[in-house]
Amino acid sequence: MKGLILSGGAGTRLRPITHTSAKQLVPVANKPILFYGIEDMAAAGITEIGIIIGDTGDEIRAAVGDGSAFGVNVTYLPQEAPLGLAHCVLIAHDFLGDDDFVMYLGDNMLEQGLSDFVTSFESDRAAARIPADADGPAVPAAQILLAKVDDPSAFGVAELAPGGDSVVRLVEKPADPPSNLALVGVYLFDATIHEAVASIAPSDRGELEITDAIQWLIEHGHRVRHEVLEGWWIDTGKKDPLLECNRLVLDVLEARVDGSVDDESRLEGKVIIEAGAVIERSVIRGPAIVGVDAVVRDSYIGPFSSVAARCEVIDSELDHSVMLADSRIVGIPRIVDSLIGRSAEVQQSNARPRATRLMLGDHSRVEIS
Ligand code: DAU
Repeated sequence: MKGLILSGGAGTRLRPITHTSAKQLVPVANKPILFYGIEDMAAAGITEIGIIIGDTGDEIRAAVGDGSAFGVNVTYLPQEAPLGLAHCVLIAHDFLGDDDFVMYLGDNMLEQGLSDFVTSFESDRAAARIPADADGPAVPAAQILLAKVDDPSAFGVAELAPGGDSVVRLVEKPADPPSNLALVGVYLFDATIHEAVASIAPSDRGELEITDAIQWLIEHGHRVRHEVLEGWWIDTGKKDPLLECNRLVLDVLEARVDGSVDDESRLEGKVIIEAGAVIERSVIRGPAIVGVDAVVRDSYIGPFSSVAARCEVIDSELDHSVMLADSRIVGIPRIVDSLIGRSAEVQQSNARPRATRLMLGDHSRVEIS
C-alpha cells in the first residue's frame, strides 16, 4: 500500500499566516500538522509516500526532505494549480501505479492513527476474495471515514442507506446536507479510482471533486466501505479548529524539561520546555509547550499554549494561543485565543500620542478589548 498526502492548495482560511507559508506546516504543539500525517502513515507500515505540492512546494520540501527522518521515502508531485482532490489522484497515477493507497489531506488531524483503518480495508478485501464467500459482499474498491459534525455544509457529506449499512450518495459542501456525517480527509482506494477520476467533470467551483469520483464508483456498481470515526478529527484550516487541535494534542503529551527554568519560576501541570529555552521569573501552567531557544521572562503562559522556537514572551500573559517561530510579545497584559505568525511582534509602546499602531498583513484580524 502507498500513501498520497495532499499538501498543495491555497489555504485562504488561515490568511494572513498562509500568505507566506503552507497551511500544512502551521504547527500544532510545535510540530507541523503535516508531520503527524506522515508519522501516522509510517506507523501503519506505509513507506512509499507521494506528496502533492503547489505554490508552497519549496517550503514543504525543505521541511520534509526525502522522508528519511520519518523512516519513509517521499516523492514530490507538483500540481500546477489547486484543481481539486480528484485532480491530485489524476496526476499521481504514475507514482501510484495499480497499488492500493491511502489518500490523506495534509491539513487534517485525527486522534486515532491509520493502522486500524488500513487493516480493516485490507482484511475486508482479502475476505471478499475467498471463493467460498462468493455470495458475500463484493471486494471494496474504496473506504471512507465519516465523522458526525455540527456544520455538515462545510464538508463533503455522506448519505447512508436506511440501516446505515452502505453509502448511497456523497455531496460536496451541500447547502441542504442529507446527514450530519462529514467525509474525513482520509480515504483508501484500489486502482479503480483512476478510472473514476478520469471520468468525472469539474464541479461548479471548477474542481475535480473526490466526492464525485467516489459517487462515480458507487454508481458503477463498486462497493465503498465506510467507517464512522470514534476519536476526534479536525480540519485545521481555520484559526479556531487549529487552536482546538493544539489543545487536544497538548493534552496527551508527556511533561519534559530540556531547557532551563530559574528558581523564581513555576511550572504547573503538564509542561514541555524544549532544549535551549529559558524561563525566568515566570509561571507556565500546562498543558503548554515552550520551544527550542525561546525566552519567557516575567510572564505567564496559560494552559493550551504553544510557543514555538526562538519566540520571546517578556512581561506578558498568554493563554490558549499558538505562537509561530521567532515571534515576540512584549509588555502585553493578556493575550488569549490567538494565532501569531512567524516573526510577528506585539509590543506595548509608551510613544505619544498614546494609541494603537498596527502594521498588519492582508486578511489579518485584530480584536481590541
Ligand atoms: O477536511 C475534510 C474535507 O476536505 C472533506 O469533507 C471534503 O469533502 C473535501 O473536499 C475537503 O474539503 P476542503 O475544502 O477542506 O479541502 P481543501 O481545499 O482545504 O483541501 C484539502 C487539502 O488538500 C489541503 O491540504 C490542500 C490540499 N489540496 C487541495 C486542493 C483543492 C491540494 O493539494 N490540491 C488541490 O487541488
